Amino acid sequence: MITAVISKKGGVGKTTTSVNLSAALARCGQRVLLIDLDPNAGASMSLGVGKAELGPSSADLLLRDVSATSLVRETEVENLHLMTASVDLRGAEAELDKRARKDIVLAPHLESLRRGYDQIFIDCPSSIGLLTRNAITAADVFLVPATPQFLAVDGLEHLVDTATRVALSAGRQTSLLGVLMTMADYRLKATRDVIADIRRRFGTKVFVVEVRTNVSLAEAPAYGQTVFQFKPNATGAKAYQLLAEEFLDATRAKSASGM
Ligand SMILES: Nc1ncnc2c1ncn2[C@@H]1O[C@H](COP(=O)(O)OP(=O)(O)O)[C@@H](O)[C@H]1O
Ligand SMILES: [Mg+2]
Repeated sequence: MITAVISKKGGVGKTTTSVNLSAALARCGQRVLLIDLDPNAGASMSLGVGKAELGPSSADLLLRDVSATSLVRETEVENLHLMTASVDLRGAEAELDKRARKDIVLAPHLESLRRGYDQIFIDCPSSIGLLTRNAITAADVFLVPATPQFLAVDGLEHLVDTATRVALSAGRQTSLLGVLMTMADYRLKATRDVIADIRRRFGTKVFVVEVRTNVSLAEAPAYGQTVFQFKPNATGAKAYQLLAEEFLDATRAKSASGM
């Protein structure tokens, strides 16, 4: 299963979720590949790759047709492999824009990787530009992290609509796997209200697990570690481990229904 982790907004937990959900699934024995498609390379650095070691990267796959398998590296986490991002991706949108079928450049490159992994995640930039559009058309499903803020539900509806249309216009059927509530701070009254609104609108498409604000999740990246390496007993670690189980149930249900 290929899962694109997307949102229009930055700072909603895409990278934190890509890294820690990948690590949690790897801990369950799944063979996992995380593809970093954000020029900021947050996921790559969260997994311990230094700034000087980011290349070769997903930019070489998209722009120079370097073979996908040669770009995959091992990480400190058993069962978790990584394709890094690098600053070269900054020019990728302009470069892709010149291509025919510019929305569907990534998909064929990933086909050769599918059989090597149980799960492939794509951590996307915070916009629905050409990089994210390519991730959507390459993926089977998309996962949307969202913070419980005022008007979040409107933004989510728009995003899900846009992503579904991007997929359909490229002849793909990538669909919403789930919305994940992140950085939930229940001391704020608005938090419960907004989450209730989102659950009313998206029903079973919202993961039961809600990731609370947790300082260990925010600190781990500075050490190049997942939360499981940094603070295995943190509430953030428990949340992502529970999410991994729920994620597996959701993907199995999706596969059984023929996607
Ligand atoms: N549950 C959480 N609790 C506390 N801090 C978090 C949590 N999730 C993410 N963060 C922090 O919030 C910031 C934005 O998260 P990030 O995953 O980078 O978002 P995005 O990839 O959507 O831009 C980062 O500094 C990250 O460490
Ligand atoms: Mg990010």
